[in-house]
Amino acid sequence: MKLWAGRFQKALDDKTNDFNSSISFDCRMANEDILGSMAHAAMLQKQGIISEDDGKAIQDGLASIAADLAGGKLQIDMTAEDIHTFVEGELTARIGDAGKRLHTGRSRNDQVALDIRLYLRNRIPALQEQITDLIDVLCDKAEQYADAIMPGYTHLQRAQPITFGHHLMAYAEMLLRDRARLADALTRTNVSPLGSGALASTTYDLDREAVASTLRMNGVTNNSLDGVSDRDFAVELAAALSLIMVHLSRFSEEIILWCSWEFKFIELDDAFSTGSSIMPQKKNPDIAELVRGKSGRVFGDLMTLLTVLKGLPLAYNKDMQEDKEAIFDALDTVTMCLTAFTPMIDTMTVLTENMRKAAAGGFINATDAADYLVGKGLPFRDAYKATGELVALCIRKGLTLETLPLEEYQAVCDLFDNDVFEAISLERCAAMRRVYGGPAPENVRAQVARVRALI
Ligand code: ARG
Repeated sequence: MKLWAGRFQKALDDKTNDFNSSISFDCRMANEDILGSMAHAAMLQKQGIISEDDGKAIQDGLASIAADLAGGKLQIDMTAEDIHTFVEGELTARIGDAGKRLHTGRSRNDQVALDIRLYLRNRIPALQEQITDLIDVLCDKAEQYADAIMPGYTHLQRAQPITFGHHLMAYAEMLLRDRARLADALTRTNVSPLGSGALASTTYDLDREAVASTLRMNGVTNNSLDGVSDRDFAVELAAALSLIMVHLSRFSEEIILWCSWEFKFIELDDAFSTGSSIMPQKKNPDIAELVRGKSGRVFGDLMTLLTVLKGLPLAYNKDMQEDKEAIFDALDTVTMCLTAFTPMIDTMTVLTENMRKAAAGGFINATDAADYLVGKGLPFRDAYKATGELVALCIRKGLTLETLPLEEYQAVCDLFDNDVFEAISLERCAAMRRVYGGPAPENVRAQVARVRALI
């Protein structure tokens, strides 16, 4: 029977009941729903709104429901309308009339808002930890490959020499920001809307602060209409999750490129690769591709939330029931992606010789050759042009800047001397880029130390 049975002559149509029901997805908030109800009931009792006996019966009843759910002795009834209805119904079945007093001064509208906030609050720390684990792996790898020369790219064209450690630490920086965004979202999520009622609060003398503090929340919402209508916290979280996926997806794209035969900068561990059903030679980076693909789901979830909210008049509207599947899916997806992604990175083999070989082609030390001339007093623009001529000459002759004879250099510009070859050595080019934020091995080590101290 529905909670609103008094007003109605007929039950909800069967198929429509499935359509209206949210139990299939809000059942995962059972614990939060029970804890929220316990805090609410304790406050009702303390305020003298319900009796001590009723208060005690409610606490014991809710505790036994939680224990039976955890122990598998109680199954959630999937024909119930939602988790709130199920818990209250089960409570009343167990303790009788006292159970019917639980909902005094409360609505499912503030109740569901509380439950989602509690649920997300409880999930965010594990996600922060997963991100920290990935940052940790990146620090280890970056330290190990602080000296490994690789070509840095712009437009996917070899550009300037960097170190592999530096490249990895770029992702560590993105992930540090992601972690900070989650922490920020958490502060605004962990606020109690209970007491907002259906929309206009209540005439009972509720102690909203007490409920919030029992639930270890940062405080209470300040306006009852906003309290039941606000899902900004879910949007913020979905946006933070989307950015995590942007970062994992870009990283995945590089992993996919790097383990192709065209690059062969890395090889993924067998435990994180897949084969082909027909081509015996294949070893595919499916995990990275799936992470890249799943970013689309998470962006979709963010778009769902924004779209559900944008046209809603105050206060609660049933549309808002659509918030849960979207934010749960985003959370689950990012959690799964990180679970597979971090050990994939941790176990990959880095083929430094291939990186070094790629760095040797593509004239990535041309800027350094120009800078050499600047060191001899030539204005940068003229140095740039002279070096450009040298590169063109090399391409015509099938040579590199390292193998072009000094006479050829001097024919283009007489400021060149034998020491140019040392100036354009890739190891030196990377080591000299030690301005703060640059790829020099010593910088990479310092950055690793700084990031480790932060995490
Ligand atoms: N299942 C609902 C939701 O997720 C709970 C709130 C229902 N409130 C209402 N007035 N119908 O939003």
